[in-house]
Amino acid sequence: MHVSAARNTAAAFALVGLLLAGAAPVATATTAAPAPVALAAPDIPLANVKAHLTQLQSIATANGGNRAHGRTGYKASIDYTKAKLDAAGFTTTLQQFTSSGAIGYNLIADWPGGDANQVLMAGAHLDSVASGAGINDNGSGSAAVLETALAVSRAQLQPTKHLRFGWWGAEELGLVGSKYYVANLPATERAKFSGYLNFDMIGSPNPGYFVYDDDPAIEKTFKDFYAGLGVPTEIETEGDGRSDHASFKNVGIPVGGLFTGASRTKTAAQVQKWGGTSGLAFDRCYHSSCDTSTNINDTALDRNSDAIAHAIWTLSTEPTVPPGDFYENLTDVTVPDNGAAVTSTVTVAGRTGSAPATLKAAVDIKHTFRGDLVIDLLAPDGTAYRLKNSSTSDSADNVIATYTVDASSETANGAWRLRVQDVVARDTGYIDSWKLTF
Ligand code: TRP
Ligand code: ZN
Ligand code: CA
Repeated sequence: MHVSAARNTAAAFALVGLLLAGAAPVATATTAAPAPVALAAPDIPLANVKAHLTQLQSIATANGGNRAHGRTGYKASIDYTKAKLDAAGFTTTLQQFTSSGAIGYNLIADWPGGDANQVLMAGAHLDSVASGAGINDNGSGSAAVLETALAVSRAQLQPTKHLRFGWWGAEELGLVGSKYYVANLPATERAKFSGYLNFDMIGSPNPGYFVYDDDPAIEKTFKDFYAGLGVPTEIETEGDGRSDHASFKNVGIPVGGLFTGASRTKTAAQVQKWGGTSGLAFDRCYHSSCDTSTNINDTALDRNSDAIAHAIWTLSTEPTVPPGDFYENLTDVTVPDNGAAVTSTVTVAGRTGSAPATLKAAVDIKHTFRGDLVIDLLAPDGTAYRLKNSSTSDSADNVIATYTVDASSETANGAWRLRVQDVVARDTGYIDSWKLTF
């Protein structure tokens, strides 16, 4: 295992950006520019996030107590957010749609620059329900995403990826705005998303710290941030698919996000790790008239705002692992004569999303009668892809071949194994090396 990790050339390359020191990476066949080094994300000032919430509360108060789809308070919320982004140098787009007989709006803000073929997006729904001001649901996510976007501008961040921010309309009517946005993305545009990060209810007054269990690389980014704070997290289970990330996930875009809980009750065990009140809802004002400025836990809002910035900074400037990079294992593995199958592992890390439809497995197996051998590629989840069957008539030496596998239904990251079995007595051999090319 140790040798395979050290010789995992693409992983070594990716690590350079993460560890500022260390041994020079083993060159890959395709290395071009040096990997960019991620800058540390700024601390997002809680006072700024709360100032946005104060404004959203004033907007609700001035517009019949809510910021719901089709009501004047919604459009005023959009106008407030758009003005901040325009002043900070974003390219904003107001997207209109119709739902329940009323015009709805999505606000999209692009930060100029970055690789247009790798879009990282963060978003939040800006509408409330009609029964209240919606300050936790979802002024909290809207304000934190807005302040993170403004921090990108203050830093004049120049990420590798293209950054986009979104505020969705009519989420409370069934994810209407985000579904509309995704449905109107041409397939070529969808394919450019490296990820979508969703923030819906991140300042609940009796908070839990929940991370969406979706794309592993995004999930790890949030968990690493919380591990750094020493705050435990749990997987979000209060209704996967109940917020705008579902619109993106449904078309195959890698997603992630944070959540501090809605109407579910905090348990005694959760109070042990996070404090707060057991037997009480995470947000007892969920979808009700008391979801006002006072319905916010400042510590949760502060931590989650910083977590958003950490994710944006890390995921948009992380060393990219370009197509063509490979992962290999050069350690010999003996294949026992007419015996049990053996495996050799390569660990793929630092990628997002699925493996390619043209994953290439190049194998170099030395053997005195290759017809004895059955060879499979095992995906991280154990799915076997047959590369070669046995044959009593194929008496040639060695298997030195490259197989193309449609691995598009597999997650790229994880432990991939080459499994080799010798099923006929007498001739013998060993795995000399093998590699996976993405
Ligand atoms: N989006 C839901 C709402 O606005 C709240 C919610 C429930 C939620 N479960 C969730 C948000 C899980 C994010 C993740 O009513
Ligand atoms: Zn809601
Ligand atoms: Ca044999």
